[in-house]
Amino acid sequence: MHKKIAVLAGDGIGPEIITEAIKVLQAIEKKYNHSFSFEHALMGAVAIDATGNPLPEKTIEICKSNDAILFGAIGDPKYDNDPNAKVRPEQGLLALRKTLNLYCNVRPVTIYDRLIESSPLKRDRIEGVDLVIYRELTGGIYFGQKKETDEKGVASDLCVYSKEEILRVAHLAFKAAAKRKNKLTLVDKANVLASSRLWRSVVTELHSSEYKDVELDFLFVDNAAMQMVLNPAQFDVILTGNLFGDIISDEASVIGGSIGLLASASIGDRYALFEPIHGSFPQGKGKGIANPIATILSAAMMLDHFDMIQEANAIRDAIQKTINSDIGTPDISPNKSSTTEEVGSYISNIILA
Ligand code: IPM
Ligand code: MG
Repeated sequence: MHKKIAVLAGDGIGPEIITEAIKVLQAIEKKYNHSFSFEHALMGAVAIDATGNPLPEKTIEICKSNDAILFGAIGDPKYDNDPNAKVRPEQGLLALRKTLNLYCNVRPVTIYDRLIESSPLKRDRIEGVDLVIYRELTGGIYFGQKKETDEKGVASDLCVYSKEEILRVAHLAFKAAAKRKNKLTLVDKANVLASSRLWRSVVTELHSSEYKDVELDFLFVDNAAMQMVLNPAQFDVILTGNLFGDIISDEASVIGGSIGLLASASIGDRYALFEPIHGSFPQGKGKGIANPIATILSAAMMLDHFDMIQEANAIRDAIQKTINSDIGTPDISPNKSSTTEEVGSYISNIILA
């Protein structure tokens, strides 16, 4: 099969981890007789440096004309520390999600037995954890009207959700739950926020009309944050809005031992983008210490999306074997660590063997 992939390496460690994901995809090409093309484009701080715009028109065109998008990381400290910056790298990613209508972000949390000791949680809390977060990605407080600080020292961000925006992501989350452990937890703040009360009523109604067989429960986001540490094995599918999903997925990621392991798929009705959940880790840039696994697992999710299930599983198996052989970057293998490049090569070689 031939597939065209747009590649946005982005900032910080982005180019290093993307190089390893491409290496692994090339191993898949060879082993399974596919052909993949890779078309690179600029987004983020690198795009601002080159063009003044974090998401140049050309990048949007390239994303639209390929079959899927593989993305590395975004962000640069020179903007983080400047609250007055007129343009920020992250605007590129947010604008791309919006432009391509990538409304559903899927973030699976997988536990590797070998890494349980790297987790900040105790073994008995972690065993049996297998959850996935469905995060709404193109609405809520991220995209509501913003007012930057005015002369009175006031700034605001509006959190808006419509029934349609909730329904389309909720359908996908219910369908996922039905294929997994059949449980969906809606995480919101319905005791305080009107938009959360809308989430509750829309999801409750959808549940009783179309997904009665899925067990549905609700958690306020503060309680959910606590439950994620106390008893993460209780979760199957978590459905939540944009901001809560951003926060809870970073929290969930470290249960497995490192944020460098968590992949994600951002999907809409027409386009799909695959991205690790972590940031650009500027302190790690160029040092060969960035964990490429989250990006490689994102590439596996892309293969799932292409219906190359066996190929995607081959990547996941190779990662499992790599971890079981104690091959890993310093975040998961502090005593005997490998470089970003060595981890990518190890995984590719297992696929090719
Ligand atoms: C993520 C990231 C982004 C977000 C940033 C880089 C804009 O944290 O994908 O979780 O907040 O959505
Ligand atoms: Mg985040």
